[in-house]
Amino acid sequence: MSLADAFHGRNVLVTGGLGFLGSNLAIKLVRYGANVTLLDSLIPQFGGSFFNISPIRNQVVVNISDMRDANSLDILVQGKDYIFNLAGQVSHGDSMRDPQLDLAVNCVSTMNLVEACRKHNVGVRMLYTSTRQVYGWPQKLPVTEDHPTVPIDVNGINKLAAEYYHLLYDGTYGIRSTVLRLTNTFGPRQRIRGNRQGFATIFLRLALRGETVSLFGGGGQIRDFNYVDDVVTAMLLGITNDGCMGKLFNLGSLRAYSLIQFVDVLKKFCAFKVESVPFPEDKKIIDIGDYYGDFSKFHGVTGWNPAVDLEEGLEKTVAFYRENKEVYWQ
Ligand SMILES: NC(=O)c1ccc[n+]([C@@H]2O[C@H](COP(=O)([O-])OP(=O)(O)OC[C@H]3O[C@@H](n4cnc5c(N)ncnc54)[C@H](O)[C@@H]3O)[C@@H](O)[C@H]2O)c1
Repeated sequence: MSLADAFHGRNVLVTGGLGFLGSNLAIKLVRYGANVTLLDSLIPQFGGSFFNISPIRNQVVVNISDMRDANSLDILVQGKDYIFNLAGQVSHGDSMRDPQLDLAVNCVSTMNLVEACRKHNVGVRMLYTSTRQVYGWPQKLPVTEDHPTVPIDVNGINKLAAEYYHLLYDGTYGIRSTVLRLTNTFGPRQRIRGNRQGFATIFLRLALRGETVSLFGGGGQIRDFNYVDDVVTAMLLGITNDGCMGKLFNLGSLRAYSLIQFVDVLKKFCAFKVESVPFPEDKKIIDIGDYYGDFSKFHGVTGWNPAVDLEEGLEKTVAFYRENKEVYWQ
């Protein structure tokens, strides 16, 4: 069955649905003919906005509520065939500055969601978007799913716990769930204002404005990148494939880049300067060094491969932000 057929006429809830990944996913789900409900708290410093869903604003139901409060979830989960649990606090630095907020948003919210499903919808299928940050410092590259999980920030610990709420409720109550550990994802509709969404968004904003990009410690750190459309496809495959249920998987890309190489690709589309500066102490203690993930386990089950490379993805991304500069970065 095609993905379009799998979602046509199905009832889908996306938590964090006004954010970067949620809105891109919702646009695809609407195209496939799903009945889509988006839940979002619109916490101001997070990545959600109504502009993100402007192409589908009249074709989705939007529920503005906060998953830290369990009440609305009891109703929202009822009658849903699929729930994509994307709501979260994404900043590693903020998780150290305000660990209680990270705990509430990433753990309590997910606990409330799986509990609501246990009470009202055990037949639902769920997908949770976790992060490569759960591994901490890579002990070997590429990182596979059996790599030890030794998070080096509060966010990594809370995301790991939330993964296991999903997997526990899958194993114990049969509420089918799959977990994807995402790496750096980029593309249209990501918040690039402010410094909370990771270095790629900061570099992008500075590049668009023609300002100077600072590379910490020379920029030799290695990362992998996924374009958002590829991650959306991975989420759709992950939640529909029986072989993914009760399991966790890395995403990743076909090629890893140093930050210098990332900046070189970005320079093909924007004119800006680059400088090397010493690594700030507060950032260095939560930096994981070099990372790139092995996604062969997910590929083996679903056949997924990233289709958009960094250059093509950045070209599309820059075009989107130039077109929508008043909204995202001016
Ligand atoms: N973007 C990436 O590169 C990346 C990498 C790894 C993991 N992830 C994970 O994917 C998920 C989505 O990330 P994103 O980049 O779309 O972030 P985002 O900030 O753009 O979107 C998250 C959305 O969740 C909403 N939200 C947060 N707490 C909520 C709550 N308690 N109740 C209801 N809504 C709430 C926010 O308002 C926001 O709209 C997150 O869980 C994140 O940890 C993302």
